[in-house]
Amino acid sequence: MSFYVTTPIYYVNAQPHLGHAYTSIAADVLARHHRRRGDDTFFLTGTDEHGEPVADAARAQGLEPRAWADLNAEKFKALLPAIGVAPDFFIRTTDAEHKRRVQEVLQRVYDNGHVYKGLYEGWYCPRCADFKTESEILDGNRCPIHEIELTREQEENWFFRLSAFQGRLEQLFESQPDFVAPARARHEAQAFIAQGLQDVSLSRAKLRWGVEVPWDEGHVFYVWFDALLNYYTALGYARAGEDLTARYWPPSVHLVGKEILKFHTLYWPAMLWAAGLELPRQVFVHGFLQGSDGRKMSKSLGNGLDPFAVLERYGADALRFYLLRDVSFGGDGNVGMDAVASRYEAELANEYGNLVSRTLAMLVRYRDGRIPEAPVDPVLESELASLAAEVAAAIDGVDPSGGLELIWQRVRRLNRYVEERKPWELARDQDASTSLDSVLVTLHRGLQVVTTELGPYMPDTSARVLQALAAIPLEVIPPLFPKTP
Ligand code: MSP
Repeated sequence: MSFYVTTPIYYVNAQPHLGHAYTSIAADVLARHHRRRGDDTFFLTGTDEHGEPVADAARAQGLEPRAWADLNAEKFKALLPAIGVAPDFFIRTTDAEHKRRVQEVLQRVYDNGHVYKGLYEGWYCPRCADFKTESEILDGNRCPIHEIELTREQEENWFFRLSAFQGRLEQLFESQPDFVAPARARHEAQAFIAQGLQDVSLSRAKLRWGVEVPWDEGHVFYVWFDALLNYYTALGYARAGEDLTARYWPPSVHLVGKEILKFHTLYWPAMLWAAGLELPRQVFVHGFLQGSDGRKMSKSLGNGLDPFAVLERYGADALRFYLLRDVSFGGDGNVGMDAVASRYEAELANEYGNLVSRTLAMLVRYRDGRIPEAPVDPVLESELASLAAEVAAAIDGVDPSGGLELIWQRVRRLNRYVEERKPWELARDQDASTSLDSVLVTLHRGLQVVTTELGPYMPDTSARVLQALAAIPLEVIPPLFPKTP
């Protein structure tokens, strides 16, 4: 089985922040999980570097767009190892191979008769790089996302005949209801279709910073089509001398935030049809992380969560755990440093960390670090045996938070087991030696199972604990989740 997962490619006109880390972490958890299951896995992320927002930001810094993009792409790349995210390839839309393939695919779309020249007039948001419909805009002709005033723009453009795909899209959503998940996102996409799809601009004449339209050199492609195609072009050159397209196309799942649903669930499938390419199996639309007060995170409100502050204080595994644990993946959720601190102490340090240190310490104290030969408690054995399949089902449903909850139920079960069986009392009773063996073996086995399942979420912690379980260290190991100042 192959598994191909992507994140949106991030605009280089901003600094990497928690929202970018969030989608990348979720994709990384899916990729690590599938890889462990033996699936032939490919995980793609990268940066979106063309278009007006980037050209404008570069100009504001007194730089050429390419120089500005180079600077910022490095920051997005550097974020990944810091948060434990290991993609198979990092695409930049300024890569020559990407641009060449964008031209190839869109030339095909043109040759297939899906493109025409027309005059475009509409309300344009330079931050979204998108025209807005009358029904979307806020009072005072403002952008519904950025709330800035929109400009009325008119220009001669190449158009993509999106309207011609109306019926086919309706049919797609009916025949393949899980093409867009969760259901709320599917309904939103269907509501867009129900309004009636209009043709969309495929090129911009005013802008120079983009991929040139091969049949009309005065134009560059509208940045969104250049960007969407990254999911396809990357497979052609991610491995030198090898084309991975046949191996991984179509994608298993695109993870995207809810603000870019329209592009991924309407424009993208239509474009793929127009180019004669297979559609991804699923677009999974997740919610937004908001400040601790439920408002959009912003520096001026001081309600944001800085990923770098969390990394410094608690480390990458804790950040990954926190984001997928505190906000159910798919919905919106509020995040803040206080919540990180309380999850860290209550769950990572007290529940999981203690279970690990207690178990290792008892194996050393009572059995000199040897794992006794004894049967695992049959009740726990069966509860543990089903965990891997349950977590796999959650991950297949793109529910990493659900998977984590299933694991945590077992962590709590093991802690209850310790309280119930009181191994320290068994240790004082010479006749209870077999019982103590069984309790120790059960805890050891239980920790192996939960820690293996935790691997995709907390790769570092999991590797350290599995190593300690394989060869019990006789000296006291430092706490996994130390108290923080
Ligand atoms: N470049 C486009 C995407 C092109 S994909 C072909 C873009 N870039 S972006 O830099 O704005 O990144 C948007 C994505 O970052 C969101 O879709 C989401 O994945 C992530 N997030 C950014 N802010 C976020 C939150 N506050 N909360 C959750 N995710 C957020 O759009």
